[in-house]
Amino acid sequence: MAKNKTVYVCANCGFESLRWVGKCPSCEAWDTFSEEIKSSAKSKSPSGSNTALFQDIISITEETGERFDTGSEELNRVLGGGLMNGSVVLIGGDPGIGKSTLVLQTAAKLNRKVLYVTGEESLWQIKSRAVRLNALNSSLMILAETDLPTILDAAGSSGAEIVIIDSIQTVSSPEFDNPAGTVTQIRECTAAVMNYSKKNNISFILIGHVTKEGFLAGPKVLEHIVDTVLYFEGDSGEGLRMLRAQKNRFGSTNELGIFEMTSGGLQEVKDAASVFLTHRNEKISGSVISATMEGSRTFLFEVQALVTPSYYGNPQRVATGFDYKRLSILLAVLEKRGSMRLSDKNVFLNMSGGIRITEPAIDLAVCCAIAGALSDKTISPDLVITGEVGLGGEIRGISNIEKRIREAEKLGFTGIIIPAANKSRIPKECRIEVIPASNLRLVFENLF
Ligand SMILES: Nc1ncnc2c1ncn2[C@@H]1O[C@H](COP(=O)(O)OP(=O)(O)O)[C@@H](O)[C@H]1O
Ligand SMILES: [Mg+2]
Ligand SMILES: [Zn+2]
Repeated sequence: MAKNKTVYVCANCGFESLRWVGKCPSCEAWDTFSEEIKSSAKSKSPSGSNTALFQDIISITEETGERFDTGSEELNRVLGGGLMNGSVVLIGGDPGIGKSTLVLQTAAKLNRKVLYVTGEESLWQIKSRAVRLNALNSSLMILAETDLPTILDAAGSSGAEIVIIDSIQTVSSPEFDNPAGTVTQIRECTAAVMNYSKKNNISFILIGHVTKEGFLAGPKVLEHIVDTVLYFEGDSGEGLRMLRAQKNRFGSTNELGIFEMTSGGLQEVKDAASVFLTHRNEKISGSVISATMEGSRTFLFEVQALVTPSYYGNPQRVATGFDYKRLSILLAVLEKRGSMRLSDKNVFLNMSGGIRITEPAIDLAVCCAIAGALSDKTISPDLVITGEVGLGGEIRGISNIEKRIREAEKLGFTGIIIPAANKSRIPKECRIEVIPASNLRLVFENLF
């Protein structure tokens, strides 16, 4: 028998090293290595004794790929139109964000035979949560178990169409010598689940905790294995929860699902366009409303900037919900094209409600918020500002301009600044004043 060797494994990406290292040479994460036993792989001899089932390509019939209605429009949308039969979905998120709540509610609403496996809580804890969430359904079975072979046996014998494992970090297989939660166990158990799912056409929903450093143990490793990876995140203060797809074999990854955590569980936020606009203080400088697209939907939200003098050499730049590098570029554009002195100022930028912006279409709103904060001038609270800003200070066209205009109009805003390049796309009849802009300097002259 081959001896088991110890290796150090990066919890973030699964990189293996013979000695401990502080920084992962593969994914550059810090302090992610821990010791694991490298199991000597059971060598499968290529004896040719297994029968393979091959087929000519013409005679292969279409798989319809049935999708289950999860009972939640938001979840269905993020999944790409429901839960694909026979797929493996990983839901990651911080402890306490509401992952167990989401899957338990879903399990009850699926109206299919569901097996909910818990490795973290007792049966009674699950039951009392289900009572609180009004999620009692006789087709929902609960199993408290952490041993993977036992779980897969139960998946088969229960006749469940969907199996939930809460969480994948608690599950282990005796085949591997490492304890539950190690990269080896998580990776191998997920691979075994994937294998089982495809063979038996059973869907699995796996829960994965994000560790306090901000990553799910082995996310990069798991992302390659499973079909779909969803992240559940939120602004805990507001009770808002957002569900995003990081990877989806059966749909796009740019849809956003929005929920609100209440004592009765997660409620879908139906009229989501204004959900990020809460608690606005209109009399403060540095506040600007903008409109962003997430998948097929428009959201209006507030950009907040604070600019303060920096007394110690290195001014601070902090961006929440916005790309830090993009902020640096916009600050350089403001200095050069807007003749603003920002090199000796601290700049803090925040997107309200915990929204995360990835598109450049709100550049102009960011620039206006910073310019307003710097000069301590307020901008009309009834105005929405959109547009990408180029390095020359020019305003560049953006996508979906009609949708943004319509949403701003619907929410009662009286004006919207859009890129002049998008002028031809202004809808015919609008109750909102549409103001085309071509250049940063001109916008500032008009605003301040
Ligand atoms: N009795 C309760 N009343 C209202 N909200 C609750 C109650 N119990 C839990 N919650 C909410 O549910 C959250 C925990 O959800 P849970 O699904 O257990 O999270 P996770 O599985 O991601 O760790 C808490 O942070 C809280 O917001
Ligand atoms: Mg939980
Ligand atoms: Zn790594």
